[in-house]
Amino acid sequence: MSATVRERVGAASAFADESLTALEVAGREIVLVRHQGRFYAVPDMCTHARFPLHDGSLDDGKLVCCHHGARFDLETGRATLPAIKPLARYEVEVEGDDVYVTLT
Ligand code: FES
Repeated sequence: MSATVRERVGAASAFADESLTALEVAGREIVLVRHQGRFYAVPDMCTHARFPLHDGSLDDGKLVCCHHGARFDLETGRATLPAIKPLARYEVEVEGDDVYVTLT
């Protein structure tokens, strides 16, 4: 069982809109996404063949894996083929200009 970890990952103003940023939080690799002003945090590992997601792209609210083209809905984690398993999503909070990610 892993403990909950909440960590400040940076200043909101430092992340451009429509950006993907690879970060490490409590020893885990994540991707912080800023899309239409909102933040999302997901594991930096595609559920298809476990390649990193931080070198992917954004398309219409979906995170697109550059390796075989799976798409993950940022709001729900829902996957499209060739990935089947949804992508986990971590809680992100913005307080003032500080961005916090909570891993559970
Ligand atoms: S590793 Fe992401 S689609 Fe295959």
